[in-house]
Amino acid sequence: MRKSIIAGNWKMHMTCAETREFAAIFRPLIADLPSDREVVIAPPFTSIPTLCRHLEGAGVFIAGQNVHWEEQGAYTGMISAPMLIEHGVTHAIVGHSEPRKYYSETDEQINLRARTAQRTGLMPILCVGESLDQREAAETERVIHRQVDQGLEGLDPLRVIVAYEPIWAIGTGKTCAAEEANRICGLIRGWVGNADVTVQYGGSVNPATIDDLMAQSDIDGVLVGGASLDAISFARIANYQAPVRT
Ligand code: 13P
Repeated sequence: MRKSIIAGNWKMHMTCAETREFAAIFRPLIADLPSDREVVIAPPFTSIPTLCRHLEGAGVFIAGQNVHWEEQGAYTGMISAPMLIEHGVTHAIVGHSEPRKYYSETDEQINLRARTAQRTGLMPILCVGESLDQREAAETERVIHRQVDQGLEGLDPLRVIVAYEPIWAIGTGKTCAAEEANRICGLIRGWVGNADVTVQYGGSVNPATIDDLMAQSDIDGVLVGGASLDAISFARIANYQAPVRT
């Protein structure tokens, strides 16, 4: 049985002081999570040590919001896998639509990041997803298929998480309908070519939509932005109620 992965992406939010407050509220609320799920949080790099310290022993995995393909070098402003691993980080988001858009990250660079993550022992969370224009032009499947193929080239599909994040659903309050998210996650599973790959959905996930999403057969978890900043709302998401899968 695939474990579900409930991940929070804090983006450029949460100082160390805010991280401490979050952890104090969040920790008791996830003390009794069922064993069919794991929780991952991707704080900003500066808050990683604080979050690790305050959630130590709580069973929460920590992710980097990105990772460079080189392990060291003259790359001002970047972060390397060994730097993350030194702090106990276990996962790394790659290919999120924000760096794709704001820093022109390409599928080739994203693939290099994912390869380095895997090689060094980090679990890459590869984000893929179409824009509204691409969806309206009926290009959704083609775009995501390309992102999956290029992003995962040379990777072990069982040591990667793919997150389907339609760009039009990110930060807009428009969660993709659960059935449609499930359809795309199922297609991604087929394109990866391994039935056991973990496929998440992301885009305006919140406490009101989580149960419906997690009841879908091909959605193995979620990648949550805004609703992961509030400890009570993210804890509710982590404690989602859905039929147990067999
Ligand atoms: P929101 O949940 O705020 O829409 O963000 C989703 C996201 O981009 C997670 O990586």
